[in-house]
Amino acid sequence: MNDNKGQNTTINWYPGHMAKAKRIMKEKMSVIDVVYEVIDARMPYSSKIQDIESIIGNKPKLLIMTKMDLCDKKETERWIRYYEQLGYQVMGVDLEHQQSTTGIVKKTEAMMQDKMDDMIARGMKSRRIRVLVVGIPNVGKSTLINRLVGKKVANVGNRPGVTKSLDWIRINQRLELLDSPGVLWPKFDDQTIALNLASLTAIKEEVLPIYDVVCYILNMLYTYYPQELESRYGITTIDEEDMVNTLDIIGKRRGCMIQGGEIDYDRVMNLILNDMKSGLIKGITFDRIEELV
Ligand code: G4P
Repeated sequence: MNDNKGQNTTINWYPGHMAKAKRIMKEKMSVIDVVYEVIDARMPYSSKIQDIESIIGNKPKLLIMTKMDLCDKKETERWIRYYEQLGYQVMGVDLEHQQSTTGIVKKTEAMMQDKMDDMIARGMKSRRIRVLVVGIPNVGKSTLINRLVGKKVANVGNRPGVTKSLDWIRINQRLELLDSPGVLWPKFDDQTIALNLASLTAIKEEVLPIYDVVCYILNMLYTYYPQELESRYGITTIDEEDMVNTLDIIGKRRGCMIQGGEIDYDRVMNLILNDMKSGLIKGITFDRIEELV
């Protein structure tokens, strides 16, 4: 990706348990037939685990783009074509409003038809297709599992010695699902990725200075979605040289003041961040396909 549009952001965080999470997931792979790789449609590049193949090998996978209700559909179409050209099976879902997951189940069955037929032809006992859901935090893995199962599944978390105690949940006659998703973290060696993640919820904002994240959000909205900037904050331009001036205007409009009429910058910045995180700003995609190098 290209340089970020924020300030001089430093990424000073990397999860220590990453190696362990990868190892546990690799152990599970021997009993998995299909992987559902879950990504956020608003950031189909930043929310994707770039080295997923090093963990799941060449297992068949379905790339599931969640939050279709919040993304820029035109951009999403381009991303779907991009991933399909790379050989992925891709599906977009709106887990907020769409209860049915029949499309995902049907696609999985179709993907696995040959393998299952082959097993039967070789005299092996027919069994259900086994699915593992993986992805970075907050992309919708648990919501997807709950939708697939049709009820809320208890979150049992990762347990040690997990290969001995895998819990499978039946989805239908032909499909079963590992009850807890595989949680992985993206690499933060790209500033744009880190800013996208911090803007759209997948990582905690404390990882990056909130001012940098908010500047980035305002820049992105101004560049790609000026109508959102206008309808949400009543502004048609931003001060790229000194974003504090823009925060002043938004703060006044939205009543983020402290006694004496000063702007409460923490409140303005949290308001903007919260608008993004809670999905109040819709129709946006922050990963731009044309910026891929
Ligand atoms: P995770 O297991 O990958 O960590 O993610 P999880 O399912 O917990 O989903 C993270 C947040 O994203 C949840 O919101 C969830 O409701 C929301 N979400 C998941 N899929 C979609 C989607 O397709 N559209 C929209 N609009 N939201 C989606 P939350 O505010 O953290 O919790 P909740 O109280 O809404 O459940």
